[in-house]
Formats: sequence, structure tokens, C-alpha cells
Amino acid sequence: MKPVKVGICGLGTVGGGTFNVLKRNAEEIARRAGRGIEVAQIATRHPNPKCDTGTTAITADIFDVVNNPEIDIVVELIGGYTLAKELVLKAIENGKHVVTANKALIAVHGNEIFAKACEKGVIVAFEASVAGGIPVIKAIREGLAGNRINWLAGIINGTGNFILTEMREKGRTFEDVLKEAQELGYAEADPTFDVEGIDAAHKLTILASIAFGIPLQFDKAYTEGIARLTTADVNYAEALGYRIKHLGVARRTDAGIELRVHPTLIPADRLIANVNGVMNAVMVNGDAVGSTLYYGAGAGMEPTASAVVADLVDVTRALTTDPNNRVPHLAFQPDSLSDHPILPISACESAYYLRIQAKDHPGVLAQVATILSECGINIESIMQKEAEVQDGLVPVILVTHRVVEQRIDDAIAALEALDDVADKVVRIRVEQLN
Ligand code: HSE
Repeated sequence: MKPVKVGICGLGTVGGGTFNVLKRNAEEIARRAGRGIEVAQIATRHPNPKCDTGTTAITADIFDVVNNPEIDIVVELIGGYTLAKELVLKAIENGKHVVTANKALIAVHGNEIFAKACEKGVIVAFEASVAGGIPVIKAIREGLAGNRINWLAGIINGTGNFILTEMREKGRTFEDVLKEAQELGYAEADPTFDVEGIDAAHKLTILASIAFGIPLQFDKAYTEGIARLTTADVNYAEALGYRIKHLGVARRTDAGIELRVHPTLIPADRLIANVNGVMNAVMVNGDAVGSTLYYGAGAGMEPTASAVVADLVDVTRALTTDPNNRVPHLAFQPDSLSDHPILPISACESAYYLRIQAKDHPGVLAQVATILSECGINIESIMQKEAEVQDGLVPVILVTHRVVEQRIDDAIAALEALDDVADKVVRIRVEQLN
């Protein structure tokens, strides 16, 4: 059978990796796909020194690829929202299948893109958009199809996890580690997407859609980054038996769906608390299977290419199938998506770590306890660091039981209004993940 012709748009980290993996593993890939997968054209403005493109046709204009009648599948690896959207919609209009690693594009414009793809009977595959090389989309969409998914939680930004790990283990500075992550090709073009949690929120939005069968709603995700975490809180968390990880959490409740990205204390003995460096991990809890864990490299040239190529194999196998019998883009049939609402963060439920800078004199702890009790908040543990009194202020650290966030907001407002409390109260959410 004739090989399938692929056009790669973008020959950066992921594009270069995809080209190399397709070339190196051509034989294995053809044995799986049932026919060869050949790169017929590449759109790039700069050659990638890591790729020997040989006689492969190269153009500087991505639309040459999209309009090339020879191409069956367009691989979009240019990133960003605007040009990438135009490219993908044009490819669909031209009847081409699309493979993309672009989480921002899918999270923000996915509903429109999938509707258009269904209309045209083409596939838009996006495994590489979440957690790099971990086939977590396939696992949720297909492997867990028998389950009602209750919740998922994941470390889904490799750069952020790399920074937190290096800071904790080697005492390196935030800026220093971020620079290295950029050099290694882990970070986004705009690294604030990594450190402010936007990249993780894009990925969480996608995971929540395929887990719960809801439309993509990135604008409703709550996002908090890692830039404001202090070494003091990392160390207090350790003393309490926790690790701080930047986690994306999506949970189904009767009232709606929680969709939130933030630093989180996790018990140090959980497997996911020990996921370090650029590695990602996603826990998914289904009613039939219980808790499952998916682990692997979340960013980087060939791990991400692994997911892009797997999508190319899937699309190749499905080329001759009836579009109505394919796996739906968002796991559920498009006319069966649910309108269960996304909850605002104030309505989400979690346990909390609070650090209060209190004046070191009698009665302060009693005042703190009274406020928490009046707000209906149960204290699980409390620690006062007498040895760390500075300028007459002592850190009081406590962990609460699970409670709706609005009550914590009310308690923090009351605590900060006390004469005996200086500075802002530090709040970090806590998840047991059991
Ligand atoms: N910047 C992303 C990360 C790349 O660090 O996880 C992979 O999506």
C-alpha cells in the first residue's frame, strides 16, 4: 500500500523530534500502521541542526503544506493560538487530518475545531498536548471508557516540576532553574505560561473534558502559579509530612466540576509526591477501576514526538473507517456532552495549609482557633515555631480538614484583621489523593 503522506509544520523541539522518530523507527511504525508514514513536506523558517532532512521538500510557508494536495495529514507544531488556529481550520477545510501538540489551541479553540472536523469527517488528534509522552488521553478516552470518572489530579507541567524539584533538592534559585529549563527546550515560548500555571490549566481543561464529557472551558479554570512559593513553606510542609507539588485537579461533585491548578501539599509517601524533575504524572480515579497512575516524561524532544507519532499511527489506521464510528474527539459523542457547570474556586472543597505570622504573646493561638471555629473549620494539626521568632513574630502553621473555600476566605479575612497578625496569611491547598 502507498505510504501516508505527512506534512510537518514547525521543525523546532517537537517537530524535529517527530521527524527523527518517524525516520529512525520507520519500519516498526509501518508494521504497526499497516503502511508507511512518510514526511512529504516540512514548513520551517530555520533548519533544525538535530535533523538530517535530506531530500525532504522544505518550505518557509506553512500554508504550502496545508494546500499541498499530496498531503494526507498535517502535523501542527508551530504553537500559539492565532496562526495555528488558522492553519488547522484551513487544513480541515481542505479535508486533511490534523495531529497537534498544541494544548493552548485545543483548550481555547477546541470546541470550534472539533465541530468543524466532524462536519468535514476528519480527525484532529492531540495526544501530545497533555503530559508529553504519557498516553494519558488514550488511557482516559479509551482504556477507562467503562468508568464514571470521579476525579483526576496531575503534575502536568514539566518545567514547573523541574523548578520545584531543583529548588527543593539542590537549593537552586527559581531564575537559575527556569533558565536551564528553557535551554533544555522544556519551557513554553513565554515561560510565564509554565510558572503561572496557564500551561497546566490548558492541559487540565483538556483532561477534564475527556474525563467528564463536558465542553472545553479553559476560561473557567482557576489558575495559581508557583512563583510565590517560599522555601520556608516548602520546609514547613516537609516537617508536616508533605511535599508541595504544582497540581491540576478536576473533580466531579453534585454541584458541578472543580477545575483548578495550584501549588498543593501532598502526603510525602504518595507515589505522585515523588515525581521529580521534568517528569509528569496523572492520577485518574474511576468508579470501577479505582485510582490509576500514569507516569513519564512530560516535555522534551522525543518524548513529545512519541505521542505525535502514536497519533499519526492512529490516524493512518482510521483513514478508511466510517467517520461516525471513530473515537470521538472528546471521548463522548458530541451530542452527548453534559452542561454540568464548572464551579468557581470559592465553591471548591479542599483541606488547607495556613501560615500565620502572629505576635508572640499569650492568647494569639486562642484567637486563631476561635476564628476558625466560627467559620466552621476543623483543625487537623497545628505547629508553632517558637525557635523562629523574628521581630516579635512567630510563624503559626496549621492544616485544616476539608472545607469549602469560601469559609477559608472568610477566616483569612478575619485573621488578617487581627492586631496580633502581621502580613498576609499564606494559604496552600492540601490534597490527600486517596
Ligand atoms: N512547557 C511544557 C512543560 C511543555 O514544561 O510541561 C510540555 O507541554
